[in-house]
Amino acid sequence: ESKLEKRKEDFVRNNLLSDEFIEFVQKNKKPFDTLMSYYQCAIMEVETKFKVLSEEYSLEYDRNPIENIKSRVKSFDSLLKKIRRKNIPLTMTSIEENIQDIAGVRVICSFPDDIYRLADCLLSQDDIILLEKKDYIKNPKPSGYRSLHLIIQTPIFLQEGKRMVTVEVQLRTIAMDFWASLEHKLRYKKNISEEQSAFLAEEMSQCAEISASLDERMQKVKDMLIQSEQESKE
Ligand code: GTP
Ligand code: MG
Repeated sequence: ESKLEKRKEDFVRNNLLSDEFIEFVQKNKKPFDTLMSYYQCAIMEVETKFKVLSEEYSLEYDRNPIENIKSRVKSFDSLLKKIRRKNIPLTMTSIEENIQDIAGVRVICSFPDDIYRLADCLLSQDDIILLEKKDYIKNPKPSGYRSLHLIIQTPIFLQEGKRMVTVEVQLRTIAMDFWASLEHKLRYKKNISEEQSAFLAEEMSQCAEISASLDERMQKVKDMLIQSEQESKE
């Protein structure tokens, strides 16, 4: 019964908060839309930076280090959920300051060492500011999650001048992306017993290990091929 009560309370609280949020967005429609468009512009800037690096690399080494780039501006729904979860005051500035993944750029690389090469190249550009780096490849999450996360600021150039915008960049290999995509789908399955859930967590973490060892082997094969190619040129 108390559980039910708590659910009801949650429902009421969340609903109130979402009403409050919707009202906030309606009242601030213009500045809110403007802010969201800045994030879209920042995504375009960061994507272009990666495409330029990839173009240059392809010319030099005859190989594309980037398989795919997937970008998104955070949806209204997940923005609201995060504001709620982190108890962020409903003002434009506090949303901008406290939520660092409104603009997200996911770069899917071919090999693990492409991740670090691309990250270093991006971070050495003189208009990019690094706010935070989280290396979940060297230090995987307990779930097994692996990726390199960079929270950066990039300038966008507007009529009235330059504006710095925060972007979350996630760099990962195809194998890391494969694991993260499927784990994300399985994570939200409901009606699972505690026992089952512990088993699944262990399974997922082991799958991540297998996936990481595949990455390592593919990397070694690539290194071997490059080396024999160089030796045959000498
Ligand atoms: P958030 O508040 O969720 O953004 O957490 P955070 O600020 O601590 O960021 P964190 O570095 O933990 O991860 C941010 C993003 O990485 C998430 O939004 C996911 O896209 C991804 N991520 C992190 N952990 C996992 C995981 O265990 N599984 C999957 N599939 N994705 C993950
Ligand atoms: Mg996040």
